[in-house]
Amino acid sequence: NSSKIVLGFESSCDETGVALCTTDGRILGQALYSQIAMHKDYGGVVPELASRDHIRRLIPLMDETFAQAGITMKQVDAIAVTTGPGLPGALMAGCAFAYSLAMGLNLPVIPVHHLEGHLLSPLLSANPPAFPFTALLVSGGHTQLMGVEGLGKYTLLGETLDDAAGEAFDKTAKMIGLPYPGGPALSKLAEIGNPERFKLPRPMLHSGDYMFSFSGLKTAVLTTAMKLAGVGQPSETMVISDTDKADLAASFQAAIVETLVKKALAACMHLDHKRLVVAGGVGANKLLREQLVKASGKRGIEVYFPELSLCTDNGAMIAFAGAMQLAKNPALLDARDYGMLTRP
Ligand code: KG4
Ligand code: ZN
Repeated sequence: NSSKIVLGFESSCDETGVALCTTDGRILGQALYSQIAMHKDYGGVVPELASRDHIRRLIPLMDETFAQAGITMKQVDAIAVTTGPGLPGALMAGCAFAYSLAMGLNLPVIPVHHLEGHLLSPLLSANPPAFPFTALLVSGGHTQLMGVEGLGKYTLLGETLDDAAGEAFDKTAKMIGLPYPGGPALSKLAEIGNPERFKLPRPMLHSGDYMFSFSGLKTAVLTTAMKLAGVGQPSETMVISDTDKADLAASFQAAIVETLVKKALAACMHLDHKRLVVAGGVGANKLLREQLVKASGKRGIEVYFPELSLCTDNGAMIAFAGAMQLAKNPALLDARDYGMLTRP
């Protein structure tokens, strides 16, 4: 069997992930640690704490991954690591570890773009989409529409000009006094609210392109909240009734979902794709799922919602992306460029 084994590391934000994947696409073992509990008290990810915690978690998670796979480090053929985009310190923790390990073991490093990991992760799901497909990537850090024709063949159609979709959920949730991460809490509250009570803007809905902008929507929620609380200045202690909060949450969610659905379908039709894949944490949103299914059904497009554990950050998608690159280009086995760490 000529199949090779890739050890992959992810540390771009607040999840430390390690996994082993073969060049024929099998995940042999994986371990993940989420720092959410640690960042909760601060209402968001604290970069310095994130970096330190990655360093703390990497070795135990790697040991767990090897134990699961029942193999040793000697059997690894290459190391894949997320080199960006992400929090610089957090990336550096993972990269320094991965590159040092590779140098010690005399193995090649395959740098992986975090978003390529996300794009390919649906292929690891129980019901994988065939190429080509359009991907709606909606997480706390990114909002992008991509055409995925095949491995390494990606076209960026559009992205957010300011906040990411998940970031907009989180910041809006914080404004109305919900805990971090606000996305799930806000969407839960929205279920009992009236989405038509507040007329919030749908930024760039008719821009005719695939770009997004959510900061104006966030500001509209803030001014509405200030009006409801009867204050002239934003403050952490604005008092808004539970009904108002729920209506505001529902109105916000309706606005953001309408924009995502409209642009995702337009992108899919523009590329003449029959499959639309949703990746990233916001893909868990119930209304987004319902509206996408409804809108795509009418147009003969099939929507794929990979398991949430694949949509959110994890090591498996990085090991997989590295393994797929290696499968396509076996010459990567000969690369010994550890210089990347010394480049700014
Ligand atoms: O992909 P992910 O786990 O991490 C990043 O790479 O950012 O996405 C996390 C984001 C957070 O902003 C979170 O609030 C949002 O996904 N999220 C949701 C829901 N569940 C998670 N947003 C809206 N509705 C949800 N149900
Ligand atoms: Zn991510």
